[in-house]
Amino acid sequence: MIEVTVFTDEKQHKVSFSEPVSLSQALAEAGLLLDKPCGGNGTCGKCRVRAEGCLSLVSETEAKTLGENALKEGFRLACLTMAEGPAQIYFIMQNTVIQGVTQGHVADYRREPLTGDKECRGLAVDIGTTTIAAYLYSLPEGRLERAVCVKNNQAAYGADVISRIEAAGEGKLSELTKTIREQLRELVQEQLKASPEVCVITGNTTMLHLLTGLDPSGIAVSPFTPQSLFGEWHGNTYLPKCMSAYVGADITTAVLASGLTSYHTAFLVDVGTNGEMALWHDGKLWGCSTAAGPAFEGAGISMGMTAREGAVSHVWLEEAAEEKGGKRLCFETIKNAPACGICGTGLIDLVACLLELGLIDETGYLEEDYVLPGTEVFLSLQDVRQVQLAKSAICSGIETLLVQAGISGNELEAFCIAGGFGSMIDVNTAAAIGLIPKEVLPAARAVGNAAGMGAGMLLQSRKVLEESERLAEEAHILELSANPFFMEKYIENMMFQMEEPERL
Ligand code: FES
Repeated sequence: MIEVTVFTDEKQHKVSFSEPVSLSQALAEAGLLLDKPCGGNGTCGKCRVRAEGCLSLVSETEAKTLGENALKEGFRLACLTMAEGPAQIYFIMQNTVIQGVTQGHVADYRREPLTGDKECRGLAVDIGTTTIAAYLYSLPEGRLERAVCVKNNQAAYGADVISRIEAAGEGKLSELTKTIREQLRELVQEQLKASPEVCVITGNTTMLHLLTGLDPSGIAVSPFTPQSLFGEWHGNTYLPKCMSAYVGADITTAVLASGLTSYHTAFLVDVGTNGEMALWHDGKLWGCSTAAGPAFEGAGISMGMTAREGAVSHVWLEEAAEEKGGKRLCFETIKNAPACGICGTGLIDLVACLLELGLIDETGYLEEDYVLPGTEVFLSLQDVRQVQLAKSAICSGIETLLVQAGISGNELEAFCIAGGFGSMIDVNTAAAIGLIPKEVLPAARAVGNAAGMGAGMLLQSRKVLEESERLAEEAHILELSANPFFMEKYIENMMFQMEEPERL
């Protein structure tokens, strides 16, 4: 019998196995889930823990990812290291509550709650690949009582939808379903302390498959056929309709909350892992998605993290005659806590500042790691490459959708940026790094978590719920992986434009 002891700040857990087990598996058995942004390939280094005892030898991959110093300090990668006999793991609990990203714009609509009971509570949830946002409403008055945003515990199975689909294909579908259902139950009972009578749960198509226990494998391979596009009730819970395998119910609900259809021509982009977007023009809805990757949600970046305490969230330059180049780089962290990583907004700002200082060139070349003054938080050349891939995917998707609908960016009356960090994003900086085309800048505005807000609208109006089904059904979906214009733009947009953006 192999006994593994896990020490946390709060308590000690003992778990036993009949054969060698990976440290991440041992932690999971102890009820402690680790983020595994690289899906457990040993390349991201995010699963590092201090461990000792009877452990497998350090592999070449592990040595390369961890580096000599971390190994000397006793760190190991939980995804690759096996406990082959008695072992101890020292685990630092993470605060999983995300700061300041929980609300957003809500379009005007007529309330007409799905249930009219006096004391009735309704719950709207947006299950994102990286985070889960939940909103508790008092339905008679339509008052938002509480909101909370936490990390999605399924991150332990990989950072993006494809790794989750792969994990499901490896026999872990029921584990994934159990993980999300348990997390939702905990969130409602322990954090929101409520027992809602009715729920609307939105999310991308894969997240809804994993929630309902449907096999998502058809989503990952051409012709990208999901088992369901939802738009259906499960008991007292409504799952809004998805538009396609990669344009999910989260976009359907975000379209409603952002008020897209009240314009003649308007655009919505969700700057999340899947880069989903929608264009409303002349009474027609277009949609597409691009594999942007999770860089802006903190995964796949050396010091990346979600927007939690200690994350560098804003970076800017100030005039300073005494500094080389006459500018000083300043930054702030969430809750002013000591900097321990960088989240999406900070990442976009930092890249924009380094471009302005000339430390990153137009090809994205950064000569050496840039360390934020007075901290251990750094940005590497590899991190800049991840930003280039993500921003190019999103910007190229926007340009392709505009061309397909036969309009140009400066015809847009509104350009809405939604997403986990949509409410915090600086649209000027987003344009400076080429995340959005410059011509949409005058119409650009952040709409926060529109997907979650839209789910809240569905809770409160049967009419809006019916409208959501109609919109999703009639949407024209563009498949970008086979689109030559998108491919051409994707390569072009990898470069950075060096001139200063026009400030609003
Ligand atoms: Fe272990 Fe990425 S290195 S999950």
